[in-house]
Amino acid sequence: MSKDMLLWDETLFSNGEILEFDYLPDYFVHRDSQMQSLRFSLKPALRGMRPVNCLVKGPPGTGKTTAVMKVFNEMKEYTDNVVFVKVNCQMDSTRFAVVSRIYEQLVHITPPSSGVAFRRLFEKVIKYLLDANKTLVVALDDINYLFPEGHADEVMYSLLRAHEQYPGARISIIAIISDVGIPYRFDPRVGSVFLPEEIAFPRYESDEIGDIIDNRIRHAFFQDVVSSEARDKVVSYVDMTGDLRIGIDLLKRSGLNAERRARRTVSVEDVEKAYEASRLLHLCRNIKSLSDHEKTLLRLIAKDSSLQTGELYKAFHEITGLGYTRFYEIIEKMHVSRLINADFSGKGMRGRTRYVEPVPDSKDILKCLE
Ligand SMILES: Nc1ncnc2c1ncn2[C@@H]1O[C@H](COP(=O)(O)OP(=O)(O)OP(=O)(O)O)[C@@H](O)[C@H]1O
Ligand SMILES: [Mg+2]
Repeated sequence: MSKDMLLWDETLFSNGEILEFDYLPDYFVHRDSQMQSLRFSLKPALRGMRPVNCLVKGPPGTGKTTAVMKVFNEMKEYTDNVVFVKVNCQMDSTRFAVVSRIYEQLVHITPPSSGVAFRRLFEKVIKYLLDANKTLVVALDDINYLFPEGHADEVMYSLLRAHEQYPGARISIIAIISDVGIPYRFDPRVGSVFLPEEIAFPRYESDEIGDIIDNRIRHAFFQDVVSSEARDKVVSYVDMTGDLRIGIDLLKRSGLNAERRARRTVSVEDVEKAYEASRLLHLCRNIKSLSDHEKTLLRLIAKDSSLQTGELYKAFHEITGLGYTRFYEIIEKMHVSRLINADFSGKGMRGRTRYVEPVPDSKDILKCLE
C-alpha cells in the first residue's frame, strides 16, 4: 500500500467535534461590539433590575446564537440571581411549548404535554421566580419561526406583560431573528412594551471569514491536512452564501470525503463534492420556516410552473379552503423572500396571462418539502 494512503483506523481529524453545529467556540472574534451591547443590556440584572430587551438580527450563520450563548455563560459566572433560558423556536413553536421549555429549564422537570393550561404553567414559572427572587432572561432563538402562525406576538406579549399581573416579576427577552428576507412585524401591542435595543449582525467580510475558518482548520485537523487551495475554496463558498455554518459543515464533510478516498490531504474536489451536499441547507431552512399553507402553495408551484394564476388559486383553494386575499398575501410574501417570481408587471406576464414561477430549482424545492 502506498504511504499516501490513509489506513482504515487512521483519521485526518485531530479534534473533529469542534466542527459540530452545537459546539460553542472558544475562538469567537469580529463580534466585539455586538457582545458589548448584549453585556450592557443584561448588566442591570446583576443589580436586581430588569434587563433591557434586545432584538438581535442578521442573516443566517453570522454568529447570533453563539454570541448570546457566550454572553449568557459569562454572566452566569457573576450571578446566581438570574436565570438564562434559551428557547429554540423552531422546535418549540407555540406559546405553550415556549413556556414548557422555560419551566423545564427552571425546575428541571418536564411538564406534561397535555392536560395543563398555558396559564397554570405560566403561573408556576412566575411563582418560582418570585419565591426565589430571580430575574428571567429568555432568548427566543429563531423567533422568525413563530411569525407565520401568529405565535410570536402571543409569546412576547405574555412574557413582557407578566409584571402587570404579577407585580415584582422580572422577565426580559432577547429576540433573535434569522433574517432570510421574509418580512416580519410585531403587533403594535407588543411593540409598545418591547422597545428593544437592536443589535445587528452583518455578514462577515472575506478576511474575517478566512480568519475564522483558519482557526477551525488549525484545531480540527492534523497539520497540513487541508491544502491552501481547499481552504480558499471553503472561504469562497462562505463568502458567496454569507453563512459561516456552511463553511464549518463543508470542512467536516470534505474531511470525511478525503477519508473515504483514503487520502491524507483534503483537496479542492473534496470541498466541491461536499458543497453539493450542503447546497440545500440554506434553501431548506428558508422553506421550513414557512407555514403549512405557504408550503402547500409552494409545492403546487414547484410541481407545475405552467399553471396560470387562476388555476393555481383554484388548486390552492381546493386543498386549503382559503380565499383569494390570503392566497395573494402568500404569493406576495414568497415573492419578497425570492422563493417565487410573481412580478406581474413584466417577467411573470406572458401575453395577458399571469404565471408564478419558482426561483430556485423546482427539484430542490420539492426535496426540502419532503
Ligand atoms: N465570529 C465567529 N467566530 C467563530 N465561529 C463563529 C463566528 N460566528 C459564527 N461562528 C460559527 O458559525 C456557526 C454559525 O453561527 P451561529 O449559529 O451563531 O449563527 P446564527 O447567526 O445564529 O445563524 P442562524 O440565523 O442561522 O441561526 C457556528 O458553528 C458558530 O460556531
Ligand atoms: Mg442561530
